[in-house]
Amino acid sequence: MSYFNYRKKTDANSQNELELFAEDVSLREIAKRFGTPCYVYSSTALRNRYQTFSGAVGNAMICYSVKANDNLAVLKTLAAEGAGADIVSGGELKRALAAGICVDKIVFSGVGKTADEIEQSIDVKIGQFNIESEDELELLAKIAIEKNVEAPIAIRINPDVEAKTHDKISTGRARDKFGIDISLAEKLYAKASMMNGISVLGLAMHIGSQLTSFLPFTMAFEVLEELCLRLRREGNQISRVDLGGGVGISYEKGEQLDLQHYGLLVKNLQKKLDVDIILEPGRWMAGPTGLLLSEVIRIKQSGKMTFVILDMAMNDLLRPALYGAWHEVQAVTPNPKENILAEIVGPICESGDIIASNRSISKLVSGDLVAVRDTGAYGSVMSSGYNTRIPAAEVMVSGKQLCLIRKRQSYEDILNKDIIPDWVGAS
Ligand code: LLP
Repeated sequence: MSYFNYRKKTDANSQNELELFAEDVSLREIAKRFGTPCYVYSSTALRNRYQTFSGAVGNAMICYSVKANDNLAVLKTLAAEGAGADIVSGGELKRALAAGICVDKIVFSGVGKTADEIEQSIDVKIGQFNIESEDELELLAKIAIEKNVEAPIAIRINPDVEAKTHDKISTGRARDKFGIDISLAEKLYAKASMMNGISVLGLAMHIGSQLTSFLPFTMAFEVLEELCLRLRREGNQISRVDLGGGVGISYEKGEQLDLQHYGLLVKNLQKKLDVDIILEPGRWMAGPTGLLLSEVIRIKQSGKMTFVILDMAMNDLLRPALYGAWHEVQAVTPNPKENILAEIVGPICESGDIIASNRSISKLVSGDLVAVRDTGAYGSVMSSGYNTRIPAAEVMVSGKQLCLIRKRQSYEDILNKDIIPDWVGAS
């Protein structure tokens, strides 16, 4: 079910004229009030997706992956549903805490946790550190001993499976930087169990993102299950297993994982191992709950090519340029009579600044609005100020309610960050 639907235009003379809404709010209205480019999130969609996911996976603890969408309003919405957080930086820790996420439901993953980040996390007593190297384990133990506490950990294994997703978002192959090589995991687990300052809860893994088939999950779950049984035979305690995120969504009405089936896999594993389960969904939770609203600056005809030039660009949504990702682009007020085939691009000075290539879309003219769909995850979080562009504002809708949830910066804000040394330009 989508919360972004076409409705009859309120001011239309003709019966056929449609316009796209976010819940009960017109996108034209949002553009008028807040300008473009602008991310628009549906709060109802977010809450519904959380409930659907949670219903499918039994009594697993859901630690929403903050990296997918870190807006405080989004985090607060999920916190109110009971979500924990999967974080990968001190900054994400600050956000999770500011949004009121329960601290013992915070899980810290990532290969590069710094001493500072570890200290901050110990001080607030987060629920779990997912350990990705022996060096990190030793640092964590040292800091925990200094503070006279025991840090709760899971050993994140690298099960060496192909996630069958984009190369850049696969994380569970031996050649990827993540997790502990499966052949070393037993030894490290045993070592960690003996260490002062460390309390070992269990195992963790995350094999990749945007998975659209079950095979990688089942293969990785098997590897984890075998390791778990081996470790137990050797006398180790395992009370918790963190299965990471990765459940894919359908960007192009194509393959999509059946969430209920995924839930069954998770529940089966839980039953077999008799453990608490943690899941770290990001994209599934937030992706379809957001769109990026943008205005057409102009149409440029160049030989046979039609370029629709938008006021959003790869600095606002990097996925198409970085991964060749496909996002649906819809005209907010479609022309029912005429379609065009176009390159939909941003104004950035890179030929790769293409939002959608060779795309059939309703005929557009300068000033029209478009919505780039399924950008609630890995949209705004990956934006930059390239070409000294101001990143998109963000708004949230709930029924008829509409609120700005991330302000648009001003050029002044941006220029004020730079400092010119007094010896520059002096002759
Ligand atoms: N847990 C860990 C340890 C992760 O590294 C990730 C994602 C997740 C959970 C959440 O995965 P999800 O449920 O969202 O698939 N920028 C890329 C995606 C990068 C994902 C990185 N890690 C994209 O736009 O497709």
